[in-house]
Amino acid sequence: MKPNLVKLRLLLFLVSSLAPTAVMALGHTYLFGCDACHTPHNVETLPGVPLWNGSETTATFVMYSSDTFQGTADGQPSGDSRLCLGCHDGSNSNSGWMSPEHSFGTGELASSHPISFVYDSALAAKDGALKNPSEESMLGGTILEDLLDPESKVQCGSCHDVHSSSVGDSLLRGYDYGSGHGPGLCRICHIK
Ligand code: HEC
Ligand code: HEC
Ligand code: HEC
Ligand code: HEC
Repeated sequence: MKPNLVKLRLLLFLVSSLAPTAVMALGHTYLFGCDACHTPHNVETLPGVPLWNGSETTATFVMYSSDTFQGTADGQPSGDSRLCLGCHDGSNSNSGWMSPEHSFGTGELASSHPISFVYDSALAAKDGALKNPSEESMLGGTILEDLLDPESKVQCGSCHDVHSSSVGDSLLRGYDYGSGHGPGLCRICHIK
Protein backbone atom coordinates (compact mmCIF):
# COMPACT_ATOMS: atom_id res chain seq x y z
CA MET A 1 0.00 0.00 0.00
CA LYS A 2 1.32 3.47 -0.83
CA PRO A 3 2.12 5.62 2.24
CA ASN A 4 -0.32 8.35 1.25
CA LEU A 5 -3.07 5.74 1.05
CA VAL A 6 -2.17 4.49 4.52
CA LYS A 7 -2.41 8.06 5.78
CA LEU A 8 -5.74 8.55 4.08
CA ARG A 9 -7.16 5.38 5.62
CA LEU A 10 -5.85 6.39 9.03
CA LEU A 11 -7.33 9.84 8.71
CA LEU A 12 -10.69 8.48 7.64
CA PHE A 13 -10.61 5.96 10.46
CA LEU A 14 -9.84 8.68 13.01
CA VAL A 15 -12.55 10.96 11.69
CA SER A 16 -15.12 8.17 11.77
CA SER A 17 -14.13 6.90 15.21
CA LEU A 18 -13.85 10.29 16.86
CA ALA A 19 -17.11 11.56 15.46
CA PRO A 20 -19.45 8.62 14.87
CA THR A 21 -22.39 10.91 14.22
CA ALA A 22 -20.47 13.02 11.69
CA VAL A 23 -22.15 13.22 8.30
CA MET A 24 -19.71 10.83 6.69
CA ALA A 25 -19.33 7.14 6.04
CA LEU A 26 -16.36 5.19 4.75
CA GLY A 27 -16.66 4.24 1.10
CA HIS A 28 -16.22 0.52 0.51
CA THR A 29 -12.97 1.19 -1.31
CA TYR A 30 -11.49 2.27 2.04
CA LEU A 31 -12.99 -0.67 3.90
CA PHE A 32 -12.02 -3.38 1.44
CA GLY A 33 -9.95 -2.05 -1.46
CA CYS A 34 -11.08 -2.66 -5.03
CA ASP A 35 -10.70 -6.44 -5.05
CA ALA A 36 -13.78 -7.00 -2.89
CA CYS A 37 -15.74 -6.38 -6.08
CA HIS A 38 -13.41 -6.12 -9.11
CA THR A 39 -10.58 -8.26 -10.37
CA PRO A 40 -8.19 -7.41 -13.22
CA HIS A 41 -8.16 -10.97 -14.65
CA ASN A 42 -10.49 -13.95 -15.00
CA VAL A 43 -13.48 -11.71 -14.66
CA GLU A 44 -17.07 -12.85 -14.58
CA THR A 45 -19.97 -11.09 -16.24
CA LEU A 46 -22.53 -9.12 -14.33
CA PRO A 47 -24.40 -6.31 -16.12
CA GLY A 48 -23.37 -3.00 -14.63
CA VAL A 49 -20.31 -4.27 -12.78
CA PRO A 50 -17.18 -4.07 -14.93
CA LEU A 51 -14.39 -6.54 -14.11
CA TRP A 52 -16.55 -8.33 -11.59
CA ASN A 53 -14.77 -10.76 -9.25
CA GLY A 54 -17.70 -13.17 -9.24
CA SER A 55 -18.63 -13.25 -5.56
CA GLU A 56 -22.37 -13.17 -5.32
CA THR A 57 -25.22 -14.03 -3.04
CA THR A 58 -26.57 -17.57 -3.13
CA ALA A 59 -29.67 -16.76 -1.10
CA THR A 60 -33.17 -16.82 -2.59
CA PHE A 61 -35.07 -13.63 -1.90
CA VAL A 62 -38.71 -12.66 -1.84
CA MET A 63 -38.91 -9.67 -4.18
CA TYR A 64 -40.95 -6.52 -3.62
CA SER A 65 -44.54 -6.42 -4.79
CA SER A 66 -47.54 -4.22 -4.09
CA ASP A 67 -50.88 -3.24 -5.62
CA THR A 68 -49.43 0.02 -6.90
CA PHE A 69 -45.94 -1.03 -8.05
CA GLN A 70 -46.10 -1.16 -11.85
CA GLY A 71 -42.60 -2.30 -12.68
CA THR A 72 -41.77 -5.94 -13.38
CA ALA A 73 -39.08 -7.04 -10.98
CA ASP A 74 -36.71 -9.82 -12.00
CA GLY A 75 -37.38 -13.11 -10.21
CA GLN A 76 -34.24 -12.58 -8.15
CA PRO A 77 -31.92 -9.58 -7.60
CA SER A 78 -29.89 -8.81 -10.73
CA GLY A 79 -26.99 -6.56 -11.75
CA ASP A 80 -25.04 -4.79 -9.04
CA SER A 81 -27.71 -5.71 -6.48
CA ARG A 82 -26.42 -9.29 -6.67
CA LEU A 83 -22.97 -8.00 -5.89
CA CYS A 84 -24.15 -5.95 -2.91
CA LEU A 85 -26.20 -8.81 -1.52
CA GLY A 86 -23.14 -11.07 -1.81
CA CYS A 87 -22.10 -9.45 1.47
CA HIS A 88 -25.31 -7.75 2.56
CA ASP A 89 -27.30 -10.99 2.75
CA GLY A 90 -25.38 -11.41 5.98
CA SER A 91 -23.98 -14.83 5.14
CA ASN A 92 -20.53 -13.82 3.83
CA SER A 93 -17.96 -14.72 6.47
CA ASN A 94 -15.58 -12.09 5.04
CA SER A 95 -17.95 -9.39 6.16
CA GLY A 96 -19.00 -10.97 9.44
CA TRP A 97 -18.33 -7.66 11.17
CA MET A 98 -21.29 -6.13 9.38
CA SER A 99 -23.83 -4.91 11.89
CA PRO A 100 -27.26 -6.59 11.61
CA GLU A 101 -28.98 -3.39 10.53
CA HIS A 102 -26.75 -3.37 7.44
CA SER A 103 -27.78 -6.82 6.25
CA PHE A 104 -30.85 -8.02 4.36
CA GLY A 105 -32.38 -11.39 5.16
CA THR A 106 -34.13 -13.35 2.43
CA GLY A 107 -37.49 -11.76 3.27
CA GLU A 108 -36.31 -8.20 3.68
CA LEU A 109 -36.22 -7.06 0.06
CA ALA A 110 -40.00 -7.45 0.11
CA SER A 111 -40.09 -4.55 2.55
CA SER A 112 -37.52 -2.33 0.80
CA HIS A 113 -37.77 0.07 -2.16
CA PRO A 114 -38.18 -2.11 -5.29
CA ILE A 115 -35.00 -3.06 -7.18
CA SER A 116 -34.02 -5.07 -10.27
CA PHE A 117 -36.73 -3.78 -12.63
CA VAL A 118 -36.61 -1.71 -15.83
CA TYR A 119 -37.38 1.98 -15.38
CA ASP A 120 -38.05 3.39 -18.82
CA SER A 121 -40.24 6.07 -20.39
CA ALA A 122 -43.12 3.58 -20.67
CA LEU A 123 -43.09 3.01 -16.91
CA ALA A 124 -42.85 6.75 -16.31
CA ALA A 125 -45.89 7.36 -18.54
CA LYS A 126 -47.85 4.58 -16.87
CA ASP A 127 -47.04 5.81 -13.38
CA GLY A 128 -47.71 9.47 -14.13
CA ALA A 129 -45.58 10.70 -11.22
CA LEU A 130 -42.14 9.55 -12.33
CA LYS A 131 -39.69 11.56 -14.40
CA ASN A 132 -38.72 10.26 -17.80
CA PRO A 133 -35.29 8.63 -17.30
CA SER A 134 -33.94 10.78 -20.13
CA GLU A 135 -34.41 13.83 -17.89
CA GLU A 136 -31.50 15.30 -15.97
CA SER A 137 -30.58 13.67 -12.69
CA MET A 138 -28.97 16.86 -11.27
CA LEU A 139 -25.85 14.77 -10.76
CA GLY A 140 -24.27 15.64 -14.10
CA GLY A 141 -26.07 13.50 -16.66
CA THR A 142 -29.50 11.99 -17.14
CA ILE A 143 -31.27 9.63 -14.72
CA LEU A 144 -30.54 6.81 -17.16
CA GLU A 145 -26.83 7.62 -17.30
CA ASP A 146 -26.29 8.37 -13.64
CA LEU A 147 -28.64 6.08 -11.74
CA LEU A 148 -29.75 3.13 -13.84
CA ASP A 149 -27.70 0.09 -14.82
CA PRO A 150 -26.88 -0.77 -18.47
CA GLU A 151 -30.22 -2.61 -18.72
CA SER A 152 -32.05 0.54 -17.52
CA LYS A 153 -32.81 -1.08 -14.19
CA VAL A 154 -33.12 0.36 -10.71
CA GLN A 155 -30.60 -1.42 -8.47
CA CYS A 156 -28.94 -0.84 -5.10
CA GLY A 157 -26.45 1.34 -6.96
CA SER A 158 -29.24 3.69 -8.08
CA CYS A 159 -29.26 5.30 -4.65
CA HIS A 160 -25.86 4.26 -3.26
CA ASP A 161 -22.33 4.84 -4.49
CA VAL A 162 -19.88 2.53 -2.78
CA HIS A 163 -16.82 4.16 -4.34
CA SER A 164 -16.62 7.24 -2.18
CA SER A 165 -17.93 8.40 1.13
CA SER A 166 -20.73 9.91 -0.97
CA VAL A 167 -23.31 11.86 0.99
CA GLY A 168 -24.47 11.31 4.57
CA ASP A 169 -23.83 8.14 6.51
CA SER A 170 -25.42 5.73 4.03
CA LEU A 171 -23.20 6.29 0.97
CA LEU A 172 -26.02 8.01 -0.90
CA ARG A 173 -25.87 9.58 -4.33
CA GLY A 174 -26.23 13.34 -4.41
CA TYR A 175 -28.42 13.92 -1.38
CA ASP A 176 -28.59 12.83 2.23
CA TYR A 177 -31.91 11.40 3.39
CA GLY A 178 -33.97 11.28 6.54
CA SER A 179 -34.97 13.75 9.20
CA GLY A 180 -33.79 17.25 8.32
CA HIS A 181 -32.40 16.32 4.90
CA GLY A 182 -35.41 16.68 2.65
CA PRO A 183 -36.60 14.63 -0.29
CA GLY A 184 -33.85 15.52 -2.81
CA LEU A 185 -32.70 11.94 -3.42
CA CYS A 186 -36.23 10.67 -4.04
CA ARG A 187 -37.15 13.63 -6.26
CA ILE A 188 -34.38 12.79 -8.68
CA CYS A 189 -36.88 10.23 -10.03
CA HIS A 190 -40.25 10.91 -8.37
CA ILE A 191 -42.56 13.85 -9.00
CA LYS A 192 -44.13 13.97 -5.57
C1 HEC B 1 -18.33 -2.85 -2.94
C2 HEC B 1 -18.04 -3.12 -4.34
C3 HEC B 1 -17.07 -2.24 -5.08
C4 HEC B 1 -15.80 -1.85 -4.70
C5 HEC B 1 -15.07 -2.14 -3.41
C6 HEC B 1 -15.27 -1.10 -5.82
N1 HEC B 1 -16.19 -1.04 -6.83
FE1 HEC B 1 -15.95 -0.20 -8.67
N2 HEC B 1 -17.86 -0.66 -9.18
C7 HEC B 1 -18.75 -1.31 -8.36
C8 HEC B 1 -20.06 -1.28 -8.97
C9 HEC B 1 -21.34 -1.85 -8.37
C10 HEC B 1 -19.92 -0.59 -10.21
C11 HEC B 1 -20.99 -0.24 -11.23
C12 HEC B 1 -21.90 0.87 -10.75
C13 HEC B 1 -21.19 2.14 -10.45
O1 HEC B 1 -20.49 2.66 -11.33
O2 HEC B 1 -21.30 2.64 -9.33
C14 HEC B 1 -18.52 -0.23 -10.32
C15 HEC B 1 -17.97 0.45 -11.38
C16 HEC B 1 -16.64 0.78 -11.49
C17 HEC B 1 -16.04 1.39 -12.65
C18 HEC B 1 -16.74 1.73 -13.95
C19 HEC B 1 -17.71 2.84 -13.82
C20 HEC B 1 -17.06 4.16 -13.61
O3 HEC B 1 -17.43 4.84 -12.63
O4 HEC B 1 -16.18 4.54 -14.39
C21 HEC B 1 -14.72 1.58 -12.37
C22 HEC B 1 -13.66 2.17 -13.29
C23 HEC B 1 -14.49 1.10 -11.02
N3 HEC B 1 -15.67 0.60 -10.51
C24 HEC B 1 -13.29 1.11 -10.36
C25 HEC B 1 -13.09 0.78 -9.02
C26 HEC B 1 -11.84 0.96 -8.30
C27 HEC B 1 -10.57 1.52 -8.93
C28 HEC B 1 -12.04 0.52 -7.03
C29 HEC B 1 -11.08 0.59 -5.85
C30 HEC B 1 -10.51 1.92 -5.58
C31 HEC B 1 -13.41 0.04 -6.95
N4 HEC B 1 -14.01 0.25 -8.17
C32 HEC B 1 -14.00 -0.54 -5.85
C33 HEC B 1 -18.48 -1.88 -7.14
C34 HEC B 1 -17.30 -1.71 -6.41
C1 HEC C 1 -33.48 5.93 -9.57
C2 HEC C 1 -34.81 6.47 -9.46
C3 HEC C 1 -35.49 6.40 -8.13
C4 HEC C 1 -35.07 6.92 -6.94
C5 HEC C 1 -33.81 7.70 -6.65
C6 HEC C 1 -36.12 6.62 -5.99
N1 HEC C 1 -37.11 5.91 -6.59
FE1 HEC C 1 -38.81 5.24 -5.74
N2 HEC C 1 -39.30 4.28 -7.43
C7 HEC C 1 -38.67 4.41 -8.64
C8 HEC C 1 -39.40 3.68 -9.65
C9 HEC C 1 -39.02 3.60 -11.12
C10 HEC C 1 -40.49 3.08 -9.00
C11 HEC C 1 -41.58 2.20 -9.61
C12 HEC C 1 -42.81 3.03 -9.81
C13 HEC C 1 -44.07 2.18 -9.90
O1 HEC C 1 -44.15 1.31 -10.72
O2 HEC C 1 -44.97 2.39 -9.10
C14 HEC C 1 -40.41 3.48 -7.61
C15 HEC C 1 -41.34 3.14 -6.64
C16 HEC C 1 -41.46 3.80 -5.43
C17 HEC C 1 -42.62 3.71 -4.57
C18 HEC C 1 -43.91 2.99 -4.87
C19 HEC C 1 -43.88 1.52 -4.57
C20 HEC C 1 -45.24 0.94 -4.84
O3 HEC C 1 -45.48 -0.16 -4.29
O4 HEC C 1 -46.06 1.50 -5.58
C21 HEC C 1 -42.36 4.52 -3.50
C22 HEC C 1 -43.28 4.79 -2.33
C23 HEC C 1 -41.04 5.07 -3.69
N3 HEC C 1 -40.53 4.62 -4.87
C24 HEC C 1 -40.42 5.91 -2.81
C25 HEC C 1 -39.13 6.40 -2.94
C26 HEC C 1 -38.40 7.13 -1.94
C27 HEC C 1 -38.95 7.49 -0.57
C28 HEC C 1 -37.20 7.43 -2.45
C29 HEC C 1 -36.06 8.17 -1.79
C30 HEC C 1 -35.51 7.52 -0.60
C31 HEC C 1 -37.15 6.88 -3.81
N4 HEC C 1 -38.35 6.26 -4.06
C32 HEC C 1 -36.09 7.01 -4.66
C33 HEC C 1 -37.52 5.10 -8.87
C34 HEC C 1 -36.78 5.76 -7.91
C1 HEC D 1 -17.20 -7.26 0.33
C2 HEC D 1 -18.44 -7.16 1.09
C3 HEC D 1 -19.40 -6.04 0.72
C4 HEC D 1 -19.92 -5.74 -0.52
C5 HEC D 1 -19.67 -6.45 -1.85
C6 HEC D 1 -20.81 -4.62 -0.33
N1 HEC D 1 -20.81 -4.25 1.00
FE1 HEC D 1 -21.79 -2.65 1.81
N2 HEC D 1 -20.95 -3.02 3.63
C7 HEC D 1 -20.17 -4.13 3.93
C8 HEC D 1 -19.87 -4.13 5.35
C9 HEC D 1 -19.03 -5.17 6.08
C10 HEC D 1 -20.52 -3.00 5.90
C11 HEC D 1 -20.59 -2.59 7.35
C12 HEC D 1 -19.60 -1.61 7.73
C13 HEC D 1 -19.85 -1.24 9.17
O1 HEC D 1 -20.72 -1.82 9.84
O2 HEC D 1 -19.16 -0.34 9.63
C14 HEC D 1 -21.17 -2.32 4.79
C15 HEC D 1 -21.91 -1.14 4.93
C16 HEC D 1 -22.70 -0.59 3.93
C17 HEC D 1 -23.53 0.58 4.07
C18 HEC D 1 -23.67 1.43 5.33
C19 HEC D 1 -22.63 2.52 5.27
C20 HEC D 1 -22.05 2.86 6.59
O3 HEC D 1 -20.82 3.11 6.64
O4 HEC D 1 -22.78 2.89 7.58
C21 HEC D 1 -24.14 0.78 2.86
C22 HEC D 1 -25.12 1.88 2.51
C23 HEC D 1 -23.68 -0.27 1.97
N3 HEC D 1 -22.79 -1.07 2.64
C24 HEC D 1 -24.11 -0.41 0.66
C25 HEC D 1 -23.59 -1.34 -0.25
C26 HEC D 1 -23.98 -1.42 -1.65
C27 HEC D 1 -25.03 -0.53 -2.30
C28 HEC D 1 -23.24 -2.41 -2.22
C29 HEC D 1 -23.22 -2.86 -3.66
C30 HEC D 1 -22.90 -1.85 -4.69
C31 HEC D 1 -22.40 -2.97 -1.17
N4 HEC D 1 -22.64 -2.29 0.00
C32 HEC D 1 -21.52 -4.02 -1.35
C33 HEC D 1 -19.74 -5.08 3.03
C34 HEC D 1 -19.97 -5.10 1.67
C1 HEC E 1 -34.49 4.06 -3.69
C2 HEC E 1 -33.21 4.24 -3.11
C3 HEC E 1 -32.51 3.06 -2.47
C4 HEC E 1 -32.30 1.81 -3.01
C5 HEC E 1 -32.75 1.28 -4.36
C6 HEC E 1 -31.52 1.09 -2.02
N1 HEC E 1 -31.27 1.88 -0.93
FE1 HEC E 1 -30.18 1.40 0.71
N2 HEC E 1 -30.68 3.17 1.59
C7 HEC E 1 -31.36 4.20 0.97
C8 HEC E 1 -31.48 5.31 1.89
C9 HEC E 1 -32.17 6.63 1.58
C10 HEC E 1 -30.85 4.92 3.08
C11 HEC E 1 -30.69 5.77 4.37
C12 HEC E 1 -31.97 5.95 5.09
C13 HEC E 1 -32.36 4.74 5.84
O1 HEC E 1 -31.48 4.09 6.42
O2 HEC E 1 -33.56 4.43 5.92
C14 HEC E 1 -30.36 3.56 2.87
C15 HEC E 1 -29.68 2.80 3.80
C16 HEC E 1 -28.99 1.64 3.52
C17 HEC E 1 -28.09 0.95 4.41
C18 HEC E 1 -27.70 1.42 5.80
C19 HEC E 1 -28.45 0.70 6.87
C20 HEC E 1 -29.81 1.22 7.08
O3 HEC E 1 -30.77 0.43 7.02
O4 HEC E 1 -29.94 2.42 7.36
C21 HEC E 1 -27.64 -0.16 3.76
C22 HEC E 1 -26.66 -1.17 4.27
C23 HEC E 1 -28.26 -0.17 2.46
N3 HEC E 1 -29.09 0.94 2.35
C24 HEC E 1 -28.04 -1.13 1.49
C25 HEC E 1 -28.78 -1.27 0.32
C26 HEC E 1 -28.73 -2.43 -0.56
C27 HEC E 1 -27.83 -3.63 -0.36
C28 HEC E 1 -29.61 -2.19 -1.56
C29 HEC E 1 -30.03 -3.12 -2.66
C30 HEC E 1 -30.52 -4.44 -2.22
C31 HEC E 1 -30.19 -0.86 -1.34
N4 HEC E 1 -29.66 -0.35 -0.18
C32 HEC E 1 -31.10 -0.22 -2.18
C33 HEC E 1 -31.84 4.19 -0.33
C34 HEC E 1 -31.86 3.10 -1.17
